[in-house]
Amino acid sequence: MAVGATPVMQTGISHGDAGYKGLVQNPFLLFLSCFASIGGVLYGYDQGVISGVLVMNNFAKQFPTLAHDATLQGWMVSVLTLGAMFGALANGPIADRLSRRWSILLANVLFLIGSIIQAASVNVPMVFIGRFVAGLAVGQLSMVVPLYISELAPPHLRGGLVALQQLGITVGIMVAFWFNFGTQHIGGTGDGQSPVAWRLPLALQCLFSLILAGGTFFLPYTPRWLMMQGLDREDEALATLARLRRVAPSDPRVADEILQIKASALFDNETTAAMFPGVTSSSRLSLERYKSLFTVRHLNRRLLTACLLQLIQQFTGINAIIYYAPQIFRKIGLTGSSVDLLATGVIGIINFLCTIPPPSLLIVGGVGMGISQLIVATLYAVYNSSWASHSAAGWATAVFVWMYICNFAFSIGCVNWVIPAEIFPLGVRSQAVGVAIGVNWLSNFCVALITPRMLDSIEFGTFYFYLAFCVFLVVWVYFFLPETKGVPIEEMDRVFGGHQGEQDRVRMENIAIQLGVGSKSGGAESKKDGQVEQVESV
Ligand code: BGC
Repeated sequence: MAVGATPVMQTGISHGDAGYKGLVQNPFLLFLSCFASIGGVLYGYDQGVISGVLVMNNFAKQFPTLAHDATLQGWMVSVLTLGAMFGALANGPIADRLSRRWSILLANVLFLIGSIIQAASVNVPMVFIGRFVAGLAVGQLSMVVPLYISELAPPHLRGGLVALQQLGITVGIMVAFWFNFGTQHIGGTGDGQSPVAWRLPLALQCLFSLILAGGTFFLPYTPRWLMMQGLDREDEALATLARLRRVAPSDPRVADEILQIKASALFDNETTAAMFPGVTSSSRLSLERYKSLFTVRHLNRRLLTACLLQLIQQFTGINAIIYYAPQIFRKIGLTGSSVDLLATGVIGIINFLCTIPPPSLLIVGGVGMGISQLIVATLYAVYNSSWASHSAAGWATAVFVWMYICNFAFSIGCVNWVIPAEIFPLGVRSQAVGVAIGVNWLSNFCVALITPRMLDSIEFGTFYFYLAFCVFLVVWVYFFLPETKGVPIEEMDRVFGGHQGEQDRVRMENIAIQLGVGSKSGGAESKKDGQVEQVESV
């Protein structure tokens, strides 16, 4: 997900407006990014579908051991995230080798296999294997979709387009919740419920996957990946870029952008040579890059920040709710005529709607999440044994679960994907982002595993436990997390130490001069219509 603060090469060409206006001006790009974000939909759907399935009568009949064993349930839910962690970590080299485009196809093939096994399950091992295989694919997609979009997008639209992945996730969760709500009625919600009630939502995900898989045959390669293949494919990179921008290959904006991409590829090579002198074998290089993340002081500080953010995101308890909402709602007395799944459906809608505005302050979101968790936990503690006679308390608790979701969605729900990419120098960025996403999945795994047991044993204590992480988030962000938005990489050095950013800036300046688009003064002099635009390297 190369969307971070990289040394900039300034040129005189304006590429258009940023923000929503810019997106509307680029409908083809917007379409491609939305299409690739179906990967996010698969991610969200697979996460969301299981909560409703778990409380369906017929599912419990088919798999009684699962239905009555909180530990086994935790493993079943979390095995997907375990697969996803491996998928995310393994996909970097796959996406470099096969291309971003074909690695999306590969992920979809795995996803289809995993989904078919899940939908056709006749015993518990089949459920586990299906979820693990689908998890591998979801992890791959969580890494490659943002990468693909960021390499298609011009720098001024990159952040907004990459955020589509999170929007895709929330769409997936929402569709899964409401689909469950509908299909549970097949054969009735009671004893007569048909197996189709839970098999159908598990099978439906194949449809999204087939659409995305079919589309990969029409998706373009990214110009950046083509450029990485060497001189042979430079012309193809130019033609692809022109097609993406809907202009002729001779258009000065395309010529300028391809120069940026070339500069960035050169920059990448030079940075690698400077960081790891004498290392030529690609596997050794890859190993050295990972090693440096742990051994170079300023890099491991950055890594700690990126990984802590992922860990906290998960331990604020978002997936305790996404995975187990219907069970929580049942416990607090929202039982009559599928109210549990209805209340869960509302979560899906709130999560989606609150993701649409641009992400806001982490602190505000953290405080909102903390207050909501505190109220949920306290109501849970007070009415623990008397929900049936206090339905108003049950509904008040549900409202604060929804408030929690809203605060999550507009803050840490999106920001966690962006910050890791902003704080690392390019030479180790993809490795660092891969490790950070791996930590996200690992933490997700732990939350999925421990939540059902906690709900059974410490009950309301579960929410106090997650509240502690909301408090930690606020304190950590306030005192320790540096502002990264719009901060140049050389400023990052001041925060984390080292001189990497400063060295990178000088290197990029030299490359710009080499390519004839910059000067030593720290920026390009070529101005058009009096405008100078800062262009981030890809
Ligand atoms: C998280 C997921 C979560 C989703 C909810 C994402 O940012 O990484 O674990 O389920 O948000 O919208």
